Amino acid sequence: MTKPGFKEVDFGTSPKHHVDTPPHSPEKTTHPKSFPMHHKKTPSSGKGHSRQESRGNKKNSLGDNLTIPISPSSHNTIEVPALRSPDADTTQFMHHLSASPSTKERRVSRNSFGASLPIPRSKRQSRLSSVTYPADAHKAGRPGTISPPREFLTSQVQDVLVHKVKAAKNMAFAFDIDGVLVHGDRLIPQGKRTLQMLNGDNELGIKIPHIFLTNGSGKPELARTEQLSKILQNPISTDQFIQSHTPMRALAEYYETVLVVGGEGYRCRDVAEEYGFKNIVVPNDIVAWDPSIAPYRVFTDEERASSRPRDFSQVNIDAILVFSDSRDYATDMQIIMDLLRSEDGRLGTTAKDPVSQRIPIYFSQGDLLCPTEHPTPRMSQGAFRIGLEAMYKALTGVELERVVYGKPELATYKYADEVMASWMDELHGEERVPQNIYMIGDNPASDIVGGNMYGWNTCLVRTGVFQGGDNDEENPANFGVFPNVWDAVTAACRKELGDDFGFRWDERIVNPLMHDSQAASAIEV
Ligand code: G3P
Ligand code: MG
Repeated sequence: MTKPGFKEVDFGTSPKHHVDTPPHSPEKTTHPKSFPMHHKKTPSSGKGHSRQESRGNKKNSLGDNLTIPISPSSHNTIEVPALRSPDADTTQFMHHLSASPSTKERRVSRNSFGASLPIPRSKRQSRLSSVTYPADAHKAGRPGTISPPREFLTSQVQDVLVHKVKAAKNMAFAFDIDGVLVHGDRLIPQGKRTLQMLNGDNELGIKIPHIFLTNGSGKPELARTEQLSKILQNPISTDQFIQSHTPMRALAEYYETVLVVGGEGYRCRDVAEEYGFKNIVVPNDIVAWDPSIAPYRVFTDEERASSRPRDFSQVNIDAILVFSDSRDYATDMQIIMDLLRSEDGRLGTTAKDPVSQRIPIYFSQGDLLCPTEHPTPRMSQGAFRIGLEAMYKALTGVELERVVYGKPELATYKYADEVMASWMDELHGEERVPQNIYMIGDNPASDIVGGNMYGWNTCLVRTGVFQGGDNDEENPANFGVFPNVWDAVTAACRKELGDDFGFRWDERIVNPLMHDSQAASAIEV
């Protein structure tokens, strides 16, 4: 079977480092915008000029000219062509389910924007930027960090072992988190040691670049890095950290009023606020306004007091953003379905045309399953999405078009490159993407297929979703399968830095006070 792969053209510019070149042409950015007021801006379709033109000429039921804007007015986002089809995944299961089997020809929806995923142009998450250290870091020195005297010693070693230093700066790791470094809140033991080694506990005393690329979600980046830092007992910066919804901050430039779904309590509202969304609605706000909308929901006084109800019969919601796993499928699915079937996102209305009046829906990731503390993986956002797609098809007779971010989507890997280059600048003062990148993942269907298509080396570990034989048959890891993250990372380091590379910092080799001739002879000249 021929597997899809990213081509140069997909990136809009060189895959080596493509920070500064917008993928859209100048004429696209000056495309006229005459969208209804509540639809602020809309990511462009990437399916070809003719589709854009036909959408641009459509009229909606209100008679507005529905010219589709192609890109936001500012230049803080990059629109990346979608890898995944914008169409529902449920077609194959649907022949008995549709209440009104569609005889309508498939029409072009003004909201079917699945061909383009905006990501932030700026590399630094400036407002979020922070490095967090484990709480007891002061006791034994911050793991992986370098005290001034040690800095002097490492520079001595690095001055001698210049070839290894060059190779260490020309490699990098992208770590999946769940199933590779942790299971939920539980540490996978090899994760701690691996990060200590990459943070400087190695023969060069050098920081080997690494970022975290997770389909996890549901918390502001700083809160999650603080939590992970404690579990892994290593410093983790928000500048080296990408959750599934992190690139979705770019959507704040396109939509004014959004329904944000998923996560515990109001954390995803906090996430959306940090991303710059101006008018954020969560399902609890809607239930507080009209409890009858969710007949099976037991709504507590505390939830009512903490929600922000308003008269939603007067509000148009511009887009639905599923940021994280739903904590209440019944309520969330009901509200999402009501909005998808409404006229332009106004609750209490029913669209005359389910396609052209439908607001867009975005999911932060598409994993069906997620490893947790439970013995077998649990259902994740992908399962929730497929349920919604099936319901939507059964109720309307048409397919639900949607956009899915996260691994293995091209936009997420492209954003990872931006973060990687920025992190290289932070660590080594060189803003570039290292040549030899290793993705360490446990899920062949997201981590590995995405890494393979992006041209990275891929390592599959056996501590998470993958429980198969020699390698995954559908999406084999190209660098191999390893029992755990330590084995994968040390194998990659041996390949790039030599079989003799030392996975401990040993200052006796250079410290003049502890110097001995035997150790000195170990230094390669
Ligand atoms: O699938 C849900 C999510 O928790 C997976 O996270 O780190 O394995 O990409 P990760
Ligand atoms: Mg994983």
